[in-house]
Amino acid sequence: MHIGVLTGGGDCPGLNAVLRAVVVTAIKHYNWRVTGVLEGWRGLLERGMTREMRLNDVAGILARGGTILKTSRTNPAKVDNGYQIAADRVRRLGLDAVIAIGGDDTLGVAHEMTEIGVPMIGVPKTIDNDIFGTDSTFGFDTAVNTVIDAIDRVRTTTESHKRVMVVEVMGRHAGWIALHGGIAGGADYLLIPERDSNVQEICEVLRKRHEGDKDFSIVVVAEGAHVALDPESESKHTYITQDTTTDDFGHVRLGGIGQILAQEIEKVLGIETRTVMLGHVQRGGAPSAYDRYLCTRFGIHAVRFVDQKKFGHMVSLRGNDIVGVPLADIAGKNRTVTNDLYQEAALFFG
Ligand code: F6P
Repeated sequence: MHIGVLTGGGDCPGLNAVLRAVVVTAIKHYNWRVTGVLEGWRGLLERGMTREMRLNDVAGILARGGTILKTSRTNPAKVDNGYQIAADRVRRLGLDAVIAIGGDDTLGVAHEMTEIGVPMIGVPKTIDNDIFGTDSTFGFDTAVNTVIDAIDRVRTTTESHKRVMVVEVMGRHAGWIALHGGIAGGADYLLIPERDSNVQEICEVLRKRHEGDKDFSIVVVAEGAHVALDPESESKHTYITQDTTTDDFGHVRLGGIGQILAQEIEKVLGIETRTVMLGHVQRGGAPSAYDRYLCTRFGIHAVRFVDQKKFGHMVSLRGNDIVGVPLADIAGKNRTVTNDLYQEAALFFG
């Protein structure tokens, strides 16, 4: 057998750990050949973008962040005849199957490729943890650890200066990082994309806190949260987001909500309010122990799925088991934070 492997979409800690597990399992256990496809789907749309993956190529990469195959947000749907070009390249390369490691966009493309007859296996990646059909994605645990480390650090300076600190974290469609990072970091308020809010509501909670025995506050906001500046304008959906360019999958570039929120809180409460945007710091660096273990298992099982011809499936974590979920069942869906989970966090507001 000869398999291909690619990493697509935004990177995240643990991609290299999956690549290592795929290569070691395929070569040492099955005696197969592995080809790495460079820069996600771009590597199947253009010529000469592959490299042989031998055991030596993955030695020492378990703990390294990023991806040795590089990545891109290239979408074959945006290229004339893109899916067919990619499928033809798979045949020309002599690949019997392709393992695609990525988030909902990459897995959506993997589903389309399956539909036109390319044997695909998906591996769920994203720090956002919002992929439907798996209890967890890899990269999320590392990102949450980075967030709580940052909150622990800003807490001491916020406390000293009696300020409000707004910590902006990633999370486009889902507030998992804000929820886990906020609870584990002891946030006094948190905002997630699943629940619309307004500045007055936030300030009311903070005002009560500061009128009591507390003289500082930590607010965690997900980059994709929807916050109305004025409750009156809620129906008009006056959200604070920074819409700029869109990528190949039509996503706007987020980032900046924390800054605007901080200005508004300071205006309403008259308390000095600062912001920290954690941004890509959350996506970089060495994966946590949990992620290294999960990635290794995802990689092993992705290769086993190829052996079992479970094409068109994603490896998925269910409890402590790795199971297969049809890519068709997850396409176009997100796993979001429930109201019950948000209410647990809300018990600690103020
Ligand atoms: O991978 C998901 C994510 O981290 C989102 O939370 C964020 O909006 C996006 O990636 C940023 O991607 P890029 O680095 O391409 O701007």
